[in-house]
Amino acid sequence: MQTNRRSFLQTAGVTALAAAGSALDAQTEKPIRLAIVGTGHRGWAHLAILKNMPQYEVVALADPTPAFLDRGATFAPDAKTYSDYRKMLAERGDIDAVVVITPSFLHSEVTVAALNKGLPVLCEKPMATTVEDANKMIDAARKSGKLLYIGFQKRLAPVTSKMKELVAAGEIGQVAMVTGCNYRGDWNPESWKYTDPKTGVSTNWRYLTYTEGSALLEDGIHELDALNWMIGSKIARVTAAGGNNVFKNRETVDHVSTIVEYESGVKLTFELSLFAPHAGPNSRRMMLIGSEGVMTPENGRVALRSRTSNAVKYVEVSDPTPRDITANAVGSAMDNETYQQYLAFEKSLRTGQAPPVSPEDGKTAIKLVLLAEKSLRAHRVMTWNDLPA
Ligand SMILES: NC(=O)c1ccc[n+]([C@@H]2O[C@H](COP(=O)([O-])OP(=O)(O)OC[C@H]3O[C@@H](n4cnc5c(N)ncnc54)[C@H](O)[C@@H]3O)[C@@H](O)[C@H]2O)c1
Repeated sequence: MQTNRRSFLQTAGVTALAAAGSALDAQTEKPIRLAIVGTGHRGWAHLAILKNMPQYEVVALADPTPAFLDRGATFAPDAKTYSDYRKMLAERGDIDAVVVITPSFLHSEVTVAALNKGLPVLCEKPMATTVEDANKMIDAARKSGKLLYIGFQKRLAPVTSKMKELVAAGEIGQVAMVTGCNYRGDWNPESWKYTDPKTGVSTNWRYLTYTEGSALLEDGIHELDALNWMIGSKIARVTAAGGNNVFKNRETVDHVSTIVEYESGVKLTFELSLFAPHAGPNSRRMMLIGSEGVMTPENGRVALRSRTSNAVKYVEVSDPTPRDITANAVGSAMDNETYQQYLAFEKSLRTGQAPPVSPEDGKTAIKLVLLAEKSLRAHRVMTWNDLPA
């Protein structure tokens, strides 16, 4: 159901927000004009949500693959389409913000170009495929003074934010051990194909180290970011084992087991498998073990189990996303969180308030994963200084 733009702005209190101070100057009462760069599978999920958000207007779409661009345009028929995002940035003076949803190796290039044009950016996770690329993004954000929000929408899942709150309130005492996993099926075979300019060979971008960076950057990084956020300590060492036990004809691994040691003494273990599409109810799990108890998400609630008794306490969690907003969304259950991410992006754009995920958080998450990647290739433990600061 499409909400009327004016009534939405009034009921959501955006007018009040605008009065409190604006980062978008004269744009406070008007919809935020977005350009989307990268209109593949994840781009369609964004666009399906944006269709139901009157506080945004998608005015431009850029993607070099005609079929993917055309499908993107079905969600935003009034947007002008471009095969080259650089032409779009050069030509358009009416864009308020850019959303980057390209394959991960291009996140830095596109984000830096947009920030250098003075445009705020919402960039999909992972921030980048190298620490150097992440640093370029942080520098460009600093120099331009514009917002850079890294899209870890999982932090906005009601259960995850409740867990963070309960950890901070000491509900399980001192966090001491943390574990998580993501046992899933293989990458989408319909993903965009990268063509090697030297050989002319085209390959699913998720199979190549150059374009994907690491399997954990693609999935697993959501949980790793959320757990980093809850643990709240610097990382000291990372070690990992992984390889290709099932999908052998690709560069990126199909399974990985990682151990992270934090300066606080907390240990985190995490596993990813791409050959377990039907792994059952515990296929995507997070568990925090503290000095006083254990915390896990369970069926949309947070379960707290005490160390000293059998008692289980369930903390109920409600989802603030209106049902009709995501009813027609493309893709997955992540869509409520993506909707919440756009609300947070809007708030930051209109008020100048810091977004829920900082560029530094985005960089910490990729650095953890890239150290795991380096460790599994070199078969040795990596310290935080084994990659650039
Ligand atoms: N937050 C999440 O939960 C989530 C979920 C899925 C994907 N993602 C991220 O979204 C990004 C895109 O993933 P996807 O599933 O849409 O991949 P995809 O392969 O389906 O689509 C990638 C799109 O990028 C386009 N592209 C390639 N080069 C480009 C360029 N130079 N300029 C503009 N567009 C270009 C391709 O033509 C294609 O349309 C990745 O970084 C991925 O990690 C995030």
